[in-house]
Amino acid sequence: MRRYNVGVIGATGMVGQRFLTLLSGHPWFKVTVVAASSRSAGKPYREAVGAKWAMSVPVPEEIASLTVMDAVADKEIIAGSVDFCFCAVDMKKDDILSLEEAYARLECPIVSNNSANRQVPDVPMVVPEVNPEHIEVIEWQKKRLGTKKGFIAVKSNCSIQSYVPALHPLRKYGLRSVLACTYQAISGAGKTFATWPEMTDNIIPYIAGEEEKSEKEPLKVWGELRDGKIVNASSPLITTQCLRVPVSDGHTAAVFVSFDKKPSKEDIINDWREFKGVPQELELPSAPKQFLNYFSDDNRPQTRLDRDLERGMAVSIGRLREDTQYDYKFVCLSHNTLRGAAGGGVLLAELLAAKGYFD
Ligand SMILES: NC(=O)c1ccc[n+]([C@@H]2O[C@H](COP(=O)([O-])OP(=O)(O)OC[C@H]3O[C@@H](n4cnc5c(N)ncnc54)[C@H](OP(=O)(O)O)[C@@H]3O)[C@@H](O)[C@H]2O)c1
Repeated sequence: MRRYNVGVIGATGMVGQRFLTLLSGHPWFKVTVVAASSRSAGKPYREAVGAKWAMSVPVPEEIASLTVMDAVADKEIIAGSVDFCFCAVDMKKDDILSLEEAYARLECPIVSNNSANRQVPDVPMVVPEVNPEHIEVIEWQKKRLGTKKGFIAVKSNCSIQSYVPALHPLRKYGLRSVLACTYQAISGAGKTFATWPEMTDNIIPYIAGEEEKSEKEPLKVWGELRDGKIVNASSPLITTQCLRVPVSDGHTAAVFVSFDKKPSKEDIINDWREFKGVPQELELPSAPKQFLNYFSDDNRPQTRLDRDLERGMAVSIGRLREDTQYDYKFVCLSHNTLRGAAGGGVLLAELLAAKGYFD
């Protein structure tokens, strides 16, 4: 595999910092450009990120002295100097739509963590183990944009990254209805306990826009490529409640599910243990060896014990049992800034690189 030069747009943010730590020493991708808002532009990265650096490891040495570029004003220079960019910015939806499309039209592919483009029918929203074939829609997107190389591919919201993978191998039993309550970490809001002290000893029962995304996005991920666009699946029925909880990293979901043909508990656990996706078959550098991990202990999964499983790229599942109203209930967990954000973005980029989309 050749080496690709990459840019990180939103490099000073929580997800951007994760990108930088994950890409330090990556076998295929080398960060050559860091970009953020005009507030950070022109400063060396270490100075621009300053006290906002929230990772447990220091700023990678090779990044610390890079001069931060302005993601908006410098886009022609950035697009011309890298093979593709990761993008994770905190901007208005319309501004993100036009920023990402501008990079794509400048022939710079964008692998995005932002939600703005997720429901655009010719933009693939990919969980690489679940719907890798959706990247084929990029050919139609390039026709719409009039580009040879430029396109946008997105990863899904962090909240669905635990329960959609767990439900995916069970679709063969006919998923009829799903109820998911998510318990979401504060890093999902780009915060730490130092920057959000009100979250200590507290739960906030509302995360703007999260329930809508958690109910709609699985249907696109399970959709079909038809006539140059992704057509959303019409089932299962999904309802969610999303709560912010006092946890630094790791989104947990309590899931209830009913099927057309109810499987046995052993069938479900077996389906989870045996599940492998394209990233495992292609042995992509960031792919977990075992994606879905079932714990039989009643007190697992736990955020502190299990969120870092397989470098934070695996999903942990536990407490599968019959329910009085649904067929089954269980609990699952994924790391929101690794699998749910930057790690999921890097894995998607590895899939795109392996399939030649950056060449
Ligand atoms: N945190 C998560 O777990 C998570 C998970 C999935 C998806 N996401 C999504 O990822 C994106 C970033 O989230 P985050 O938590 O990393 O946010 P964050 O910590 O607030 O970081 C925001 C980044 O956006 C940059 N930015 C803000 N305004 C800009 C502008 N006008 N032009 C260019 N850059 C600008 C900031 O640069 P400055 O430092 O210069 O202001 C910073 O680098 C959001 O769309 C979020 O919804 C987050």
